[in-house]
Amino acid sequence: MQRLFIVSAIVAGLFGAGWVLSAGRPLPAAAVAGLSGDPAAGEAVFHAAGCASCHMAPEAEGPARRVLSGGQRFPSPFGTFVAPNISPDPDQGIGGWDLRAFASALKRGVRPDGAHYFPAFPYTTYTRMTLQDVADLKAFMDLLPPDATPSQPHEVAFPFNIRRSLFGWKLLFLDADWVLDAGTNPSLQRGRYLVEAMGHCAECHTSRNILGGIDKARWMAGAPNPAGKGRIPNITPGALDWSEADIAYYLETGFTPDFDSVGGHMAFVVENTALLAPEDRAAIAAYLKALPPLK
Ligand code: HEC
Ligand code: HEC
Repeated sequence: MQRLFIVSAIVAGLFGAGWVLSAGRPLPAAAVAGLSGDPAAGEAVFHAAGCASCHMAPEAEGPARRVLSGGQRFPSPFGTFVAPNISPDPDQGIGGWDLRAFASALKRGVRPDGAHYFPAFPYTTYTRMTLQDVADLKAFMDLLPPDATPSQPHEVAFPFNIRRSLFGWKLLFLDADWVLDAGTNPSLQRGRYLVEAMGHCAECHTSRNILGGIDKARWMAGAPNPAGKGRIPNITPGALDWSEADIAYYLETGFTPDFDSVGGHMAFVVENTALLAPEDRAAIAAYLKALPPLK
């Protein structure tokens, strides 16, 4: 009830503040002028950012993981979101998009027509990506197989289905500030980039407030599982006592130090981290060990 009240108040306030002001603004054309992407570099970005985990067809395996036809469902307290088709198909996918449209989606959460995306698409993470990485990613994704499966509508009820209300949500929760101070340590800076700009680890491992914003004071300290049962574990040094080598090994093989194997949605994450360079897995591990320990 409380959540409904606050969200309704924000929605009502927005109507007062003006319909026009709340439209999304794409990146200026100058931001991407002169950028060209390298597909080989983009493949590494694609794995680090985990795009296939959400955009491949449900339960796709092997080469089918590269067909980004959408259709996976993501339950949340606000309703169920369905990942859209982002394959290069010109009609059902994003084949017709230019770099500016693609970069505006990832870095600003804005659709080509100015509508706001729901944060079930983790642009709150991707907003920290460099434009060069975004250009490389697009160059790689342009070469993936096109697929003509139409995107399915989200199953989200009023008032959460009003994309305009996300204008207020973004003012509160979309910023490109780093969470961890990585100092001048290059490995820690790389780890921070992989975790905070690409791997969207916090989207699952951090709890959210009643408006669905990530609670940065509880960064990586665990969260309820949106899919229903159980909790997503606390991975700060306050709870996870694995060594850096243990963490890197888990991200490569899916095996814990007790030789349990990874389960749940983390299994999809490990399919991506297994493809990273060994230095990158080590950098993620160093990052996790440098987090403030939370109970
Ligand atoms: C956690 C799941 C998740 C991940 C990871 C994810 N997406 Fe998405 N994506 C979504 C959802 C859900 C939407 C629909 C958002 C909406 O309709 O407001 C979406 C929408 C999009 C759109 C807009 C498509 C359209 O038709 O307007 C693009 C482009 C996109 N994602 C690209 C990417 C790329 C590139 C990556 C990797 C860097 C990525 N996504 C990673 C869930 C995800
Ligand atoms: C889609 C949700 C999701 C994302 C994204 C995610 N995780 Fe996880 N993670 C989980 C779940 C669920 C588990 C529990 C796995 C299990 O029960 O086997 C887990 C477990 C872990 C564990 C083991 C903790 C333990 O106590 O067993 C580590 C370490 C970890 N994740 C690190 C990461 C890192 C680093 C990232 C980003 C690169 C990440 N996770 C992204 C859902 C996620």
